[in-house]
Amino acid sequence: MAWTAGSLLAWAGTYLQKYGVSSPRLSAELILGKILDKSRLELYLNYDQPLNPEELAGFKSLLIRRRQHEPVAYITGVREFYSLELQVGPGVLIPRPETELLVDEGLKALADGQEKPRILDLCTGSGAVALALAANLPQAEIWAADISEQALSYARSNAQKLSLAEVNFIRGDLWSPLLSRGLFFDLITANPPYVEPGEWEILDPEVRDYEPRLALLGGGDGFGLIRAILQGARAFLRPLSTLLVEIASPQAEKAKTEAARAGIYEEISILPDLAGQPRVIKCLRSDYGSASY
Ligand SMILES: C[S@@+](CC[C@H](N)C(=O)[O-])C[C@H]1O[C@@H](n2cnc3c(N)ncnc32)[C@H](O)[C@@H]1O
Repeated sequence: MAWTAGSLLAWAGTYLQKYGVSSPRLSAELILGKILDKSRLELYLNYDQPLNPEELAGFKSLLIRRRQHEPVAYITGVREFYSLELQVGPGVLIPRPETELLVDEGLKALADGQEKPRILDLCTGSGAVALALAANLPQAEIWAADISEQALSYARSNAQKLSLAEVNFIRGDLWSPLLSRGLFFDLITANPPYVEPGEWEILDPEVRDYEPRLALLGGGDGFGLIRAILQGARAFLRPLSTLLVEIASPQAEKAKTEAARAGIYEEISILPDLAGQPRVIKCLRSDYGSASY
C-alpha cells in the first residue's frame, strides 16, 4: 500500500503522541507541509496524494527530530508572528503568541501620537516585535537591539525577506549600543529573558534543551533585565511616551514596585494576555522632565 498524505498524517500523529510530543498531529502536518511545500489547507485538499520514496525518507528524518522534542519551528525553520512569516532556528528564541500583546499595545499607544514616531525594541531576538511594528507603521523610525549576533542575523534576514529593511538593528548589552547615539523614543518595547534559575529544570524539554539560555534566563533572580529596563528607560523616553515590557505572571507586583521606584512614570499598569495572565507592564511617561530632546 502506498502512503498518502492522509494515511501518513494519521500514522505520524499517533506515533508522536506515543513519545509524549506536544501537539502531535499539528507537528506532523507542519512537517509534511514543509516536505511537500504545501500549506496545511493544501494538505487537507490533497489527502490522497501518494508520496514518493524521497519524500517519505525526508519526512521520516524530520519526524525523528520532532520525536526527540525539537521544536517544530526549528524543524520547519519558520514561525508565524503577527501574520508575518519569520525565519527561526537554533540560536534564536521562537516568538510566542502572547508576545503579540506588545505589538497590539504599541500600536494603540502610538495611534494618536507623532506622525513619524521613533521606536526601540530591546532584546529583539528574531526581530518579531520590531518587524510587526514596522509592517504596521511604515512611517516609523525603528531601532532594534540584542546582545546576540546569532539572533540579530535572523532578525536582519527576516527584515530583508519581509521588505522591512529600514529597521536599524544594533548589537550590544541592553542600553549600551544606544549610549552614544543621542536617541529618544516615543515607544520602547522589550521581551527580555525572565526565567528564574529555579524554574529552569521544570521548563518543557522543547524549550530547555533547544532554545538559547541567553534568551530565557533573566540573570540572578530572573528579574535583573526587567529591572534594568524599567530603570534605564528613563534616559531614553521622550515626553508623552510609552514603555511596554513583557514579564512572567508572578513578577507583576515586583515590576510595578520597580517601575514606581524609577520615579518618572505617571501611569503604571499590568496588562493580561489572552489567557488572562499578567503579561506586560505598561508605563506612561507624560512629564516633560529636564532632559533635552
Ligand atoms: C525572550 S527573548 C525575546 C526575543 C524576541 N523579542 C521575541 O519576543 O521573540 C530575549 C532576547 O534577549 C536577548 N538578550 C539577552 N540578554 C541580553 C542583554 N543583556 N542585552 C540585550 N539583549 C539580551 C537574547 O539574545 C534574546 O534574543
